[in-house]
Parts: sequence; structure tokens; C-alpha cells
Amino acid sequence: MVDTRAVATIETDALVTYAFEQEKPVDGILLQLDEAVGGALGKLAASGELTGKMLESTLVYYPAGLAAQRLLVLGAGKKGKCGTAELRRLAGAAVRSLKSRGVKRVTFLVRENDRTAAVAQAVVEGMILANFDYDKYKTDKKPGNEITAAALAGWDESSRADADMGLARGRVIAESQNFARDLGNEPSNLLTPRMLADKAAAMAREGGLAVEILDEKKIAELKMGALLSVAQGSAEPPRMIVITYTPEKWNPAAPVLGLVGKAITFDTGGISIKPSNDMEKMKYDMCGGAAMIGVMRAISVLKPQCKIVAVVPSTENMPGGRAQKPGDIQTSMSGKTIEVINTDAEGRLILADGIAYARQLGCTHLIDAATLTGAVVVALSNVNVGVFGSDQAFTDQLLASSKVAGEKMWPLPVDDDYREFIKSPIADIQNTSNTKGGGASAAAMFIKEFTGDTPWIHLDIAGTAWQDDVKPWNAKGATGVAVRTLVDLAMKFGANGSSAK
Ligand code: BES
Ligand code: ZN
Ligand code: ZN
Repeated sequence: MVDTRAVATIETDALVTYAFEQEKPVDGILLQLDEAVGGALGKLAASGELTGKMLESTLVYYPAGLAAQRLLVLGAGKKGKCGTAELRRLAGAAVRSLKSRGVKRVTFLVRENDRTAAVAQAVVEGMILANFDYDKYKTDKKPGNEITAAALAGWDESSRADADMGLARGRVIAESQNFARDLGNEPSNLLTPRMLADKAAAMAREGGLAVEILDEKKIAELKMGALLSVAQGSAEPPRMIVITYTPEKWNPAAPVLGLVGKAITFDTGGISIKPSNDMEKMKYDMCGGAAMIGVMRAISVLKPQCKIVAVVPSTENMPGGRAQKPGDIQTSMSGKTIEVINTDAEGRLILADGIAYARQLGCTHLIDAATLTGAVVVALSNVNVGVFGSDQAFTDQLLASSKVAGEKMWPLPVDDDYREFIKSPIADIQNTSNTKGGGASAAAMFIKEFTGDTPWIHLDIAGTAWQDDVKPWNAKGATGVAVRTLVDLAMKFGANGSSAK
């Protein structure tokens, strides 16, 4: 909620605000607070304890002149450099440090120049994302170790409409990202393709979205040979999850956004089996699919003006007795034949059929997200999502949305010279590269083969979908990366009625 009362009268367990790194970190609203706490902030600044350095934390207990029980002042770095991405993290860091102290109610006071809908959205997102911990399988956890009430302050009655709007939007987006994170964290025995489909269908029904789950029979009828080739090594049947949002006033001639997500619920590598070290992490090989399902959850509430179809092919990649073998040739739904050189390059196989199906369903613009290659981790580590695109204007739109959403993404090439890399001597293409280096671009080129003339963007999230260590603003585990960017893009795609083209 948005609390428009005078700051000193706000009753809460912790009032949080931030100071900039400058000559006098205590200025603006902080001067009012300083007065209320008897000059304590000014003294801390004078002694060099409160400097405004990024993520610095100053906690004052039972501040005498405030109704709040605690005052937390976080360092926000240099004033001109503190945008929504930084505020999202600061709000998250506040929530995580306070919840570890058993605090339940938090009010975040935005500074005098930050009273915008975008800031309200970012702060709320930061708080809700930070409040997420994946501890549902711990039987000895302390009950209720989380923030139960969060509020925004700094606005007055006349400007609160902006704050309300940002808050509502930030809330649904962050909750949808947490929904995707929850799926990403689930172990593969508790999230098989069938279970993922059930959860996606339940979400869709709740949100009033149309949903169709193709089972193994339907998948075979549709001749999705690439998806089936990966699934044939597993005792668990595959699923193709299709969720559709159609706006109330829909013009059939308007562009349709297709979101295709890789959902390998466990990637052993198949017959080209992976080393056992770290293999347990391959439960997160469905995070592309989870992101798309999360986006649809947000879309069901935010209702953009364009039609959006999520297509999520899901299977395990197992080395069972019926598993495909290196050298096998498979016929994809599109009719293109594929020589499978390495069964561990399975993501691109299932995406090939996912993309062909999305095109058949009428998508005019495609975005796929996939934990696709180790090569993108080499190139960009766990910092940036790798972005590959066939249409510059569409790709630019996505990169702009990634900035708004505070999710780092970086463009990488997928030009025609990479086509040579996936030439097969005996089939139309092969699923791995015949050339040293450029593995992420070769993988993107493989997917591009199935997009025809449809504008397309590929997001390689192998490095960014999972966080190995806890951050001050975030738990470790699945990150839900791409949800915020894609929701932002979908809302704008809808607002224009088309892409930038
Ligand atoms: N799921 C992996 C990619 C991956 C690697 C995701 C690391 C997350 C972290 C993918 O299916 C895979 O195994 N790719 C291979 C392709 C290779 C055989 C051409 C890879 O990148 O090593
Ligand atoms: Zn693999
Ligand atoms: Zn994989």
C-alpha cells in the first residue's frame, strides 16, 4: 500500500530510506528524519559512518521522534547513478537484512526526486523478489520468517495515483517472477514434464487464459520428431504446453507475439552423457519455459492489447534404452532433417519444434528463452543474458525493455557466416557446430533455421537463470531472469498494436 502520512507518524517495524554519496549525505528528506532522531544521522555522517556508499547500512533503533521502531538508511551511491535498477536492489537488500532480524512490517520511503510510477514499481519488485526463499522442503524451518506487510511512502495524496499504479504493476510482475523461480528450483522428481504442464494449466485457468497441453500422442500426430527424439530416452512422456492470451478487442490482422521456452526438466546429456560434477543443477534446464509461463501469469492480470502465445516444449533428456544415439537423423515438424551429433545439444531440438508450432499457430514475432549453451557462460558469465536476433528493430525493443526491467542483456551475433558451422554432410543440418568456438552463435543459428521470415529473438539464459550464491537482495537458486523484460516488452508491443517495425 501507499502510505501518505507524514513520515514521523508512520507506524511500522522499519522505515527504510537511502542516502547518496556526496559531500553531505544527510540532505533533503533525511534532514527531516535527522531532526526527528535528534541529529543522530548528522553525527554519523560527520564521524564518517554514514557516507552513502552503495549498500552501506545504518540502522537506528527506536528513533525517539519517529513512530517507526527502526530507521534503516541504506547507501545509494552517487546521486546521478542511482536509477530504478539500483533502487530495486536497495529495496531488496533492505528486505533481506530486515527479515533476517525477524522484522515483519517495512515501509520504504522514496527520496524527493524519485516519486514516479517507475520507481514505485521497481521498489515493490525489489521487495517481493527479496522476500522469496526456497525453503518449502525444509521441515525444521522457523515459521513465518518473512516480511508480511510492505508499504511505500514519500508520496502525498495528490500524487499517489502514480505510486498506486507502479505498486500494482510491480507486485504482479515480481510475484510472477517468483512463480517462475519456484518452478526453476523444483527438483526433477517433483517437476516432470507432466507436472509442469499441470502447474501451467492451473495457472492459466486461474488467470482466465486459454491452455492446451499436447500429450505424447498429439505430439506424434503433429510429427514433432525433434521433440520426440529427445523424449524417447525417458520413461516420462513429453508435453507441449500452449497458453494463449487474447485481448478483448482483438484485431486478427494485428501482430501476435510468440514466446517459446525450453523446458528440459532434467538434462543428463542423454547418451552423450554429462560428467557427474554439478549434474544436479541440470534441474534448472527448464528455466526458459518457466520464464514464459511466468510472463503469461503477469499478462493475465496486466492485459496488454496484443495476442500472446506461449509455447513450452517439455521433456527429460535421459540415456534410456530407447534413447537416440549420436549420428541418428531426425525429421523435425518443419520437415527439415537433423543429424544429431551430440545428444546433449537437445535444447535446440525441442525449440525447433516449439518454434515451428508457434509459427503454425499464427505468431508473427517470436522470442525464445533457453538455458542453451555453456558457451554463453564462457562469453558473458552469470552477468548478462546473451541476445541473438534476426530483426534489428525488434531486438532493439527488447534491449530497451531489458534496461527498463533492470535485467542485463547483451547482443551477440547470429549472421549468415555461422550457417556453415551447422552444415551436415548427410542431413539438412546438424545439431552441433563443426567449427571451433562461437558455440552460442552456432546454437542460435540452428534455431534460426526454423524461424523462416518471422522476426525472432533468442535469449540464451544458461549463465543467468541460476545464481550460485546468495546476494544481498536475492536468495540463491533460480532467478526467473527474462520475466520482467518480456512483460515490459509485451506491454509495449500491445500498446503500439505492433512492434517497432
Ligand atoms: N543445458 C545445457 C546448457 C547449459 C550449460 C545450461 C550450463 C546451463 C549451464 C545444454 O543442453 C547443453 O548441454 N549444451 C551443450 C551443447 C554442446 C553439446 C554443443 C553445451 O553447451 O555444452
Ligand atoms: Zn544438454
Ligand atoms: Zn539442456
